[in-house]
Amino acid sequence: MLESSSVNCVIYHADCTDGFGSAYAAWKLLGNRAEYHACKHGQTPPDVKDKVVIIQPFGRGINHVDNTFVDSTGRSIEYKDLKSIIITEIESYYLKFKNENCSFLKRWPSKYDLAAWHVILKKQGHQNPHIHPSGWLSGVIYLKVVPSFKKNEGAIEFSLNGEKYYDAESPKVLHLPKTGDIVIFPSSLHHRTIPFSADTDRISIAFDLVPNLKKGL
Ligand SMILES: [Fe+2]
Repeated sequence: MLESSSVNCVIYHADCTDGFGSAYAAWKLLGNRAEYHACKHGQTPPDVKDKVVIIQPFGRGINHVDNTFVDSTGRSIEYKDLKSIIITEIESYYLKFKNENCSFLKRWPSKYDLAAWHVILKKQGHQNPHIHPSGWLSGVIYLKVVPSFKKNEGAIEFSLNGEKYYDAESPKVLHLPKTGDIVIFPSSLHHRTIPFSADTDRISIAFDLVPNLKKGL
């Protein structure tokens, strides 16, 4: 039987909600001890020579055991709980700020959908300032971070400066993420990532709370 603590390589299904969830689940158990690869059917797999590998949900033949993981407290959690974890964090965010006097909170959508995707950045990888036009609230869960070398490499930066609006005098907020951090912010806020020089992957799951106009605001 495979000893879970010996695993140092995780292959998970790319562009797939179950894949995202399983990558997160694996990280909860293994953290930075493992490397993570998003793969699709028909794609050349990564070189796993001398690696102890687990392959997360591909296709439909997944049994109940494969759909669970053990968190750092020894508790068994199902992958699908990732969605409820995100929703719980969103609701906590709203409860914390709901009495603020701003339209962002006063017009909070009563019905919404959740969109999520994974982001893998490699050496020198970064994202330019952008917003998420279809979202109301956005967030990131960090599965694997990179060394900052005391230069904020791999950090996420929030500002009012980007392609949609610009205020050079406005302050910037920088967050240097740790593995496991969940960062939540208005989708209309410009954000970018700082390029990093480490020869490793920076892996995260991003998500948007998208108002569901069919269900009403
Ligand atoms: Fe983004």
